[in-house]
Amino acid sequence: MWPAMKNRTPRTFAVKSSGCQMNVYDGERMGELLAAEGLTPVSEGAGADLVVLNTCHIREKAAEKVYSEIGRVLNRGGAAQPLIAVAGCVAQAEGAEIARRAPGVDIVVGPQAYHNLPELVRQAKAGKRVFDTDMPLLSKFGALPARRKQGPSAFLTVQEGCDKFCTYCVVPYTRGAEVSRPFAAILDEAKALIDAGAKEITLLGQNVNAWADGERGLEHLIRALDALPGLARIRYTTSHPNDMTEGLIRAHAEVEKLMPYLHLPVQSGSDRVLKAMNRSHTSESYLRILDRVRAARPDIALSGDFIVGFPGETDAEFEETLRLVEAVNYAQAFSFKYSPRPGTPAAEMDGQVAPEVMDDRLQRLQALLNAQQHAFNQASVGRRCEILLERPGRKPGQLVGKSPWLQSVHLETDASIGDIVEVELVSAGPNSLAGAHLVKEAA
Ligand code: SAH
Ligand code: SF4
Ligand code: F3S
Repeated sequence: MWPAMKNRTPRTFAVKSSGCQMNVYDGERMGELLAAEGLTPVSEGAGADLVVLNTCHIREKAAEKVYSEIGRVLNRGGAAQPLIAVAGCVAQAEGAEIARRAPGVDIVVGPQAYHNLPELVRQAKAGKRVFDTDMPLLSKFGALPARRKQGPSAFLTVQEGCDKFCTYCVVPYTRGAEVSRPFAAILDEAKALIDAGAKEITLLGQNVNAWADGERGLEHLIRALDALPGLARIRYTTSHPNDMTEGLIRAHAEVEKLMPYLHLPVQSGSDRVLKAMNRSHTSESYLRILDRVRAARPDIALSGDFIVGFPGETDAEFEETLRLVEAVNYAQAFSFKYSPRPGTPAAEMDGQVAPEVMDDRLQRLQALLNAQQHAFNQASVGRRCEILLERPGRKPGQLVGKSPWLQSVHLETDASIGDIVEVELVSAGPNSLAGAHLVKEAA
C-alpha cells in the first residue's frame, strides 16, 4: 500500500504532543517552523496532510501508545494518507524500531534535531523516508523562527537534557547532556513572547534550577524577567532538590512576580530506595529544603513526583513514602507506577515488584495525595487573589484561569482571556475552584 497512496504535497499540518511541558514547547516550535514554510496549522482531527506525533518515552505505556497512534492516523480514511513524522523522545530512543515496525512513517526526528524539520519534509515530499536523531553541538535554538502568539501563559525552555542519571529514567538518553541556553537569547525570547501577548512565562528544563550562564544562576534570570514590563507572572519547572540554591530560595521571598508554587520531585520517602534510584538526596535533606522554602514564602504551594514499586521497594519502605507525604502536605502531586525502561540500570535490578502490589501502593498514595489537594483547595476558600484568565469555561459567560498557587479557577465574568482579575475564591472541589469576580467600586 505504501507509498503509492501518500499525499506528497502537504498544505496543512497538525502537531500532537504528549509527555512533559518541554515536549509541548518543542511542539509549538515545530509548528512555528512548519508555518514559516507556508503550511497551515489545523486541529489534529481535521485530516492534516502532515501529522507530527511528538512523543514521550518516560514510561512503557506512553511509548507503546505511539504505535497505535501511527495506526490510527494511517487508517483514518480520506483520499490519501498523510505524511507522518514521529518526533520527540520515542523517536530518539527507538528510531530504528519505529522504521521497522511502522513502514508508514516518513520522518523520524529527535528532540535536538527538529530544527531540520523543513528539510526533512522536503525529502519526504520527494518520496524518501528520512531520519535525524543527531544531537548536534550547536543547539537547535539558533535555527528556529520567531515566537508567535501562544496565549497568555507561555512556556520557555531555558535548559535541556539531564546529567543526573536517576537509575529508572530515560531522559539523560533521550534528551542528552545538560545544556543551558545563553542568558541573552532567553531574554530575547521572553520579550518576543510578551510582545505576542504572554502575561506569564514558565521557564522550563528537566533540571531548570541547574540553569547557569557563567556565574549567573536561575535566580538571576528570574530577576531579569521580573524587570520586563508587561510580564505579570513567572514560574519555573522542573526542579531537582540538589539544585535548590540559597539564591533561588531568596528569590521566592523577594521577587513579587515569582508565583508561590514549587514543583520539587522527591520520588520516594525511603532513603534506601532513594540511594538505589541515585537521587543523591535523602528524605530528611528534602524536608529541610522545603523548610527553607516555606520560611522564604510561607504561602507556597508544594508539588512533587512519586514512583511506587521501584525494584526492591518493601511495604515498610513504601510506608515511608506515605509518612513523607504526610509531613509535607502537598497542594498537588503526580504519582506513577515504576515502569522498567530499556537501557536503564533499574530495569536490570533484582526485586521487580509485582503489578498488583504496585496497583495497591499507587491507590493508597493517590488517595492520600488527592485528600491533601482537596484540603489545600478548601483552605483557599475565602482567599482573595488574582486570576490570569486563560480559556473559556464549560458554561457560557464562564472563563477559567489560574490562581497564584496554580489552581484552576472558573468564574463568571465579562473580562477577556489574557486579563488578570481580582477574585474571591468561593468554593472548592478536588481539582478546581469557583471564584467571584470582585469588581472595583467606581470612584
Ligand atoms: N526531570 C524531572 C522530571 C522527569 S520525568 C525530575 O527529575 O523531577 C517526570 C517524572 O516521571 C519523574 O519525576 C518520575 O516521577 C517519573 N518517572 C521517570 N521515569 C520513570 C519510570 N521509569 N517509571 C515510572 N515513573 C517514572
Ligand atoms: Fe530523569 Fe532524574 Fe534527570 Fe529527572 S533528574 S530527568 S528523573 S534522570
Ligand atoms: Fe517524556 Fe521526553 Fe519529556 S521522555 S517526559 S517527553 S523529556
